[in-house]
Amino acid sequence: MVTVRSIRAKAGSEPITMLTAYDAPTSSVVDEAGIDVILVGDSMGNTALGYDSTLPVTVEDVVSRTAAVARAADDALVVADMPFLSVGVDEASSVEHCGRMLKEADADAVKLESGPHTVELTEHLVRLGIPVMAHLGLTPQRVREVGYGRQGTDRDDAREILDLAKAHADAGAFSLVLEHVPANLAKQVTAAIDVPTIGIGAGPDCDGQVLVVDDVVGMSDRTPPFAAQFGDVKSEMERAVGAYRDAVEAGEFPAEEHSHVEDDLDELY
Ligand code: KIV
Repeated sequence: MVTVRSIRAKAGSEPITMLTAYDAPTSSVVDEAGIDVILVGDSMGNTALGYDSTLPVTVEDVVSRTAAVARAADDALVVADMPFLSVGVDEASSVEHCGRMLKEADADAVKLESGPHTVELTEHLVRLGIPVMAHLGLTPQRVREVGYGRQGTDRDDAREILDLAKAHADAGAFSLVLEHVPANLAKQVTAAIDVPTIGIGAGPDCDGQVLVVDDVVGMSDRTPPFAAQFGDVKSEMERAVGAYRDAVEAGEFPAEEHSHVEDDLDELY
């Protein structure tokens, strides 16, 4: 079983593997493949839910999807991603929303898109027994303010990310996602904090890597420049769906072995 402690202990030693999942069948595949952490990302907005950003994702969406993922994951650590405005508005509602992920959805931890406003909150949540994964660099919930571009590209911005990484590690975050930042910044952040960094578009020197599962298996229409595709599930689904349509249209499905007949049911009237 992967735990918050075992992930922390991997800093600077073994690479951490993390992937998103938003439903039970995908969770089961990811878990059985031995991936350490399953993130029920708010990227479900762009993937499973069909929005054009993560902003419309609700607490209910994440609770329901996290519960499905947790039911199918035997070993991986399940992390629920807190959606836009579910944390940071005020402390009581932030704690309530994060608490629901552990109490109702059986998550092991929550991830917060982080900034200066989440340092104290991280400390508070950890004190209450809610493990927190921080997330710095590109934080897509700020798309209206900063877009989807690379972050930390000048010295001031890079220093701000480094300082915030230290502040969140000091506040008790057990790990830190670094998204779409220069590799040499990610390397310095990784060296500066004693909890593991998990990179996405952050180069090879993080303690682990995360990608969106749809990008990895080839289900996405558009992939970010830093993602890689390791399979072509979409083509296989298209082939299977087309073959089913053809079989129904040709009268070949259902065949005899897909039907059953009851002796007494002929000629009912
Ligand atoms: O929502 C998500 O999937 C994420 C990862 C890309 C880190 O935040």
